[in-house]
Amino acid sequence: MIKDTLLNLLAIPGPTGSESACADWIEKEIAPYVDETRRDTMGNLICVKHGNGKGKKIMLSAHMDEIGFIVTGIEDEGFLRVMPLGGVRFDQVIACHVVLKSGAQGVVFFEGGHAPGTPLNAARLFIDIGASSKEEAQQKAAIGDWAVVRPQVSDMGKRVASPYMDDRSGCAVLLETMKQVKNSDNEIYAVFSTQEEVGLRGARTAAYAIQPDMGIALDVTLSNDYPMNKKGVTPSKLGGGAAIKVMDSSVIAHPAVKSAMEEAAKKAGVPYQFEVLTGGGTDAGAIHLTGGGVPSGTLSVPCRYVHAPCEMVDISDLEACVGLLVALL
Ligand code: CO
Ligand code: ZN
Repeated sequence: MIKDTLLNLLAIPGPTGSESACADWIEKEIAPYVDETRRDTMGNLICVKHGNGKGKKIMLSAHMDEIGFIVTGIEDEGFLRVMPLGGVRFDQVIACHVVLKSGAQGVVFFEGGHAPGTPLNAARLFIDIGASSKEEAQQKAAIGDWAVVRPQVSDMGKRVASPYMDDRSGCAVLLETMKQVKNSDNEIYAVFSTQEEVGLRGARTAAYAIQPDMGIALDVTLSNDYPMNKKGVTPSKLGGGAAIKVMDSSVIAHPAVKSAMEEAAKKAGVPYQFEVLTGGGTDAGAIHLTGGGVPSGTLSVPCRYVHAPCEMVDISDLEACVGLLVALL
């Protein structure tokens, strides 16, 4: 069940640059379904399913990393100074519970955070780990350690909210797809990539090494179908099916890849929709600019509240993505 896979993935902390625990879990799960697995210098997990020599080399990429914090200083009073890792939205992490690399727990707050109108920014950000001195804090944290919002899931049945839907949803889709694909002509490279949130870095080197004939990123896209939002900002709808990307700020989807995905959705009989993301990118942004260029696109899971600790997806959309991909491959 893809929901179980997703829930397992959501429980593993994996901030940008520290994805190995997540890679370990995926590698164990995927091993029986692929011919080869390997890690590269960037920490990408690359899983290969050989074709029969008649097909194409297809790279699928879902990023393992999640946004978080990195410890930059420890104050005499025991507070941790931190910098964001990736696109942390300050108004949505104030008062959140976090877990650190050491396993220590803490909360996020901002200098002057109680005063109305106080700007929330990186310079004012700190984490309180309950230490009353620098020495005490140093038992639990060191400069360079990471912190992430504590994994916490609201399971509403067909919909689930949790931090890290971006992009553990894509990882779950990719893992389930590889379990289901049988006898494909194509040489399939399932890449669980690193450091997407700081600029699509893992996918860049993976694509360079693989030199695929086609690239597809699997990621979330904004689903702004909640109250008080202007209609028409983005057409992606929660529960509306697999979302085939038209464009975002990193890529304009290649027409051949877009139509291959649309044909596959029809063939599989799964619901689909087209989406445009006005800000943000995906691994396809790196893949398509590799070598002499790679026809690339993105298959998205619609997600509400992206980069907030309550990212929400609809399990039926993940299932639609798997159905589409299995038909495509
Ligand atoms: Co993201
Ligand atoms: Zn993402």
